Amino acid sequence: MSNHLILPSILTADFLHLEKEIEMVNASEADMLHLDIMDGVFVPNLTFGFPVIRQIKTASRKPLDVHLMIVDPDRYLEQYREAGADWLTVHYETCPHLHRTIQRIRELGMKPAVAVNPHTDVSLLQPVLKDLNMVLVMTVNPGFGGQKFIDASYGKIRKLKKMILEAGAETLIQVDGGVTEGNVATLVEAGVDAFVVGNTIFSASDPLRVISNLKNQK
Ligand code: DX5
Ligand code: ZN
Repeated sequence: MSNHLILPSILTADFLHLEKEIEMVNASEADMLHLDIMDGVFVPNLTFGFPVIRQIKTASRKPLDVHLMIVDPDRYLEQYREAGADWLTVHYETCPHLHRTIQRIRELGMKPAVAVNPHTDVSLLQPVLKDLNMVLVMTVNPGFGGQKFIDASYGKIRKLKKMILEAGAETLIQVDGGVTEGNVATLVEAGVDAFVVGNTIFSASDPLRVISNLKNQK
């Protein structure tokens, strides 16, 4: 049996009742809580800032996995740590000094991850693979929940898995966007370790059951 991780993304949660949504995640088999941070520049959408993250941190019993879809993330790394991030993901496309950014995230006490957009080749991460706890392969174009999974992602995931094995690295592979109960098993087989899931969980009438189904697929 696979022991892949499930990370609910609250992007499509009910923000008027966010505490209830987080309590649902606390009570579930989910492994971490995924927070999508958007700046309206790197992606055509805006989400929330530090005060909201701080509040979420007080309510969540799961570690926080913070996904930064913002330009110049270096300006804010420390503040994300202070707000409660345990894992921090920056986008390859936003970091001209990626190696330095990764080291800084680790120095601050967080687990570093790098995300690649659908058009970015995973081989670009080869030089930093061993410095990363996780690579996030975006399986939709970032910015919105509820989009359709991009099928070309399978090839990227297999290629990345091969790179990780060849490097003798322990880097996890995460996917984000368009994950459903129908594609988790195939993705596990391709090498995915961690699944970000928004719409499939938060639009369900029984989200606890959906999380459990996602978690317990072979
Ligand atoms: C997209 C976000 C995702 C998104 C996943 O920019 O990074 O976390 O919320 O949502 P679903 O599962 O709805 O595709
Ligand atoms: Zn995300």
